[in-house]
Amino acid sequence: MAARRRIFSGVQPTGVPHLGNYLGAISLWVAMQAEYEAVFCIADLHALTTPDTVNPAHLRTAVRDTAAILLASGVDPAHAILFVQSRVPAHAELAWLLGTVTPVGWLERMIQFKTRSAEGDSVGAGLLAYPVLQAADILLYRTDVVPVGEDQRQHIELTRDIARRFHGLFGEVFTLPEALYRSGGARIMGLDDPGTKMSKSAGRHRARHAIGLVDSPDSIRDVIMHAVTDGGREVRADDLSPGVANLVTIYQLLTSRSRGEVLAEFEGKGYAMLKASVAEAVISTLDPIQQRYRELSAEPEALDAILDSGAERARPLAGATLERVKRAMGLDAPPPPPGARLSAIA
Ligand code: AMP
Ligand code: TRP
Repeated sequence: MAARRRIFSGVQPTGVPHLGNYLGAISLWVAMQAEYEAVFCIADLHALTTPDTVNPAHLRTAVRDTAAILLASGVDPAHAILFVQSRVPAHAELAWLLGTVTPVGWLERMIQFKTRSAEGDSVGAGLLAYPVLQAADILLYRTDVVPVGEDQRQHIELTRDIARRFHGLFGEVFTLPEALYRSGGARIMGLDDPGTKMSKSAGRHRARHAIGLVDSPDSIRDVIMHAVTDGGREVRADDLSPGVANLVTIYQLLTSRSRGEVLAEFEGKGYAMLKASVAEAVISTLDPIQQRYRELSAEPEALDAILDSGAERARPLAGATLERVKRAMGLDAPPPPPGARLSAIA
């Protein structure tokens, strides 16, 4: 029997994941984990590049909360390896090695770097190196497919470029990964501004921007009923503004129906009716996730045990690739000859 193909993906523990994370990434991971060999990572080393989370107490809590949300959303440790990035040291080590073959110009072109460095007054080297660490995450597991939101496209392409460059210099070691996006839902937009994608950072400053996966039903209704649409009143399938299209996308993904079916259902109906239906669909999808999240959060030891076992399972996989990389680069010092004595140096 052919070996199962492997998927790898990650999420930063920078706060409670939102509906965009769920629809664009997490629900896709859950759907794929039975068919693929699945490895999912809570990218805490990446989160250190976000100044809001460098507070150690906050980061510790956010790692557990993110783990609880992923498990509550259906990530199943019986199928998938779920672990915290910093617990598998090969990630940081490979990131260093890959950094030595990555031109700075490639990193300076990354949209995330350009945007975030324009916002911050002091830019850490870690922000520039962020995609190199992400490449290390992916390449360590000989990943075939990376299920992510559309915003990660450039990072996955860069991962392939780094792998190819490494191969040119040192020979073939890595598997070249492909990105996989949720069709039609890889980019959920902000509810207060359908021109920008829903993001955790904007959600921190703008009350009606995002829907957090553990928000209360009242708050979900409030945000969706106030979602920005346009000057019209009724849904017209042949003339959807970005705000209305975003609501239709959310509804379509939550109810697993085709766009055509959803548009037919709402054609000529008022925006308020569309919004009320979207709000109820979000609430009923999140209700069981929230219940399970509360149960899991009440048992931090059980959560830690799942993460410990995930790291145990990830380490040998990552270690095997790291060894091959080091051998290719000439970092495999031969073992000392039999009988050699270190004490001779002393
Ligand atoms: P992050 O919270 O940045 O670590 O993102 C975790 C995953 O969610 C990544 O695969 C992102 O591409 C995905 N994601 C983040 N925001 C959105 C969005 N607004 N729409 C769809 N996917 C998203
Ligand atoms: N950079 C990704 C994000 O912000 C998170 C991430 C870290 C990731 N490592 C990864 C995604 C590896 C896919 C594969 O969403």
